[in-house]
Amino acid sequence: MCGIVGFVGKSEASPILIEGLSKLEYRGYDSAGIAVMENEDLKVIKCKGRLANLQNKLNECPIKGEIGIGHTRWATHGEPSDVNSHPHSNGKGTVSVVHNGIIENYLYLREKLMSKGYEFLSDTDTEVIPNLVDYYYDGDLLEAVMKAVSKMEGSYAIVVISTKEPDKLIAVRKDSPLIVGVGKEEYFIASDIPAVLNHTRDVYLLEDKEFVVLTREGIELFTEDREKINKEIYHVTWNADAAEKGGYEDFMLKEIHEQPKAIRDTMTSRITLNNPVVLDKINMEESYAKNIEKIYIVACGTAYHAGVIGKYAIEKLSRTTVEVDIASEFRYRNPIINDKTLVIVISQSGETADTLAVLRESKRKGCRVIAVTNVVGSSVSREADDVLYTWAGPEIAVASTKAYVTQLIAMYIIAIHLAELKGSTKTEELEEIKKEMLKLPEKAEEVLKHKEALQKFASKTYMHRDMFFLGRGLDYAVAMEGSLKLKEISYIHSEAYAGGELKHGPIALIENGTVVISLLTQRELQDKMVSNIREVVTRGAKVMAITSEDNKNMEKIADSVIYIPKTLDILSPVLSVIPLQLIAYYMAKQKGCDVDKPRNLAKSVTVE
Ligand code: G6P
Repeated sequence: MCGIVGFVGKSEASPILIEGLSKLEYRGYDSAGIAVMENEDLKVIKCKGRLANLQNKLNECPIKGEIGIGHTRWATHGEPSDVNSHPHSNGKGTVSVVHNGIIENYLYLREKLMSKGYEFLSDTDTEVIPNLVDYYYDGDLLEAVMKAVSKMEGSYAIVVISTKEPDKLIAVRKDSPLIVGVGKEEYFIASDIPAVLNHTRDVYLLEDKEFVVLTREGIELFTEDREKINKEIYHVTWNADAAEKGGYEDFMLKEIHEQPKAIRDTMTSRITLNNPVVLDKINMEESYAKNIEKIYIVACGTAYHAGVIGKYAIEKLSRTTVEVDIASEFRYRNPIINDKTLVIVISQSGETADTLAVLRESKRKGCRVIAVTNVVGSSVSREADDVLYTWAGPEIAVASTKAYVTQLIAMYIIAIHLAELKGSTKTEELEEIKKEMLKLPEKAEEVLKHKEALQKFASKTYMHRDMFFLGRGLDYAVAMEGSLKLKEISYIHSEAYAGGELKHGPIALIENGTVVISLLTQRELQDKMVSNIREVVTRGAKVMAITSEDNKNMEKIADSVIYIPKTLDILSPVLSVIPLQLIAYYMAKQKGCDVDKPRNLAKSVTVE
């Protein structure tokens, strides 16, 4: 979604802002802009489109100054356009603001300000902020920002710069992430860590309603009552390179290849043989686990698909009823939940608005909430009762891959933990699962070796307009993720169906040449799936099968087969999803799509 960068120091601000914004491009954006203080005069340059457009404008008309703010915007209020781009300023051009989030009462504030003579140029909610700050300014910029913020409803991360006090930046957040980078005589503010990593690894993770004042002399943090806050520095241990492409053509391909490591990292120190799983940030008592009546897993997009696998795993091992739901549905249907309900929210970013709303509503109704997230210090991690971090490292490509497989690992870990607490599955069976889990990183490496075969398949099929994914049980859950991946990045329409549903409608669409990608990794359901495949082959479908290496029969039935190493049925999704990610990737490349930044999509959806 939108990205924010701010800088104050002794170097030229413009190149630092542009470079910082480029590290946030993965969040998705449709316009960009910067405001820099040039000799106590605020200069703003902004435009629709990619950062390259902004850079061209800057080349024509450079701005000199050592303090400034920048923004990449993903349109919510008002279409993508030059005038709707951030930073937004007041009419006199004395205050400029960048903002992520939504000011819900902006129409009311706008009317109030207009009645006092203020004029507005854009369709955005953001434009009320610089005008409010101007309205409240009475010789103290921090005071003015605090007053303005006290009138704002909604979610925001904002950074303010003003000619009235030209040596400082003031920032605050509520329900939208913001971090402060601490360098040597230079300070940064950003919506995400990669934006500052080329300059510093020391950051403050801002909490809601914490105000920060950045000057060349340092940083001061305040509560909304203007009391000083002392905060601990968070030292970023991953490298700047971890957020770069590392020799791969795209972030997505890099992240697909990082999966063996991500799987290993997520299990590290948690899964060891002959020991119960160790979860430092989940403190669940045996008595609590035994009293859980129902578990809800709630998430959006790919994280939801991980939740579907979680349902199978948790029900199987812990014998507790699990429902999976989409966060945007769950939050509005007044679910029947109480203190005997455990809610597990899954969110790569930890900032997805609907997922966060579910977390809050569940807590309000007395549920215990476990957050599974990839981002340390994210909103869901801070607000949940317990956290299980997926250690996938930063995921930059909009389409989630390595975060998904680590979410699956997290689901297995929670399932085993509950089973251990409840004594619902024999220790030997749990030990067998752990043993096989520890082999998954190596087996994932094996699956990646099928790259060329998958690329060939993609080069033959990428012109198709529709495809089908079929599976049963866990394979069906993986089919849904494969279908989503294909849609997201290649714009090829596809549907995932449970094999048993074929006869209830979709088979009517099968004709000569229809591409069907089928998964057969669940031994008990294999024969049923073979029948489904025969049904579509008879009607002319071209079938690619993804199955376990011991199932050689498939070669007689399918047009092509990709084998994954043998593992336990319950764990096969971690391996079988990899070919599907690669199929989507290569199809998109064949079509010339921008795989890392698919059209219309954003990495982190922090508004409804
Ligand atoms: C967006 C992203 C998806 C992601 C979903 C949920 O739609 O494009 O890749 O799965 O949000 O995001 P979260 O950060 O909550 O996992």
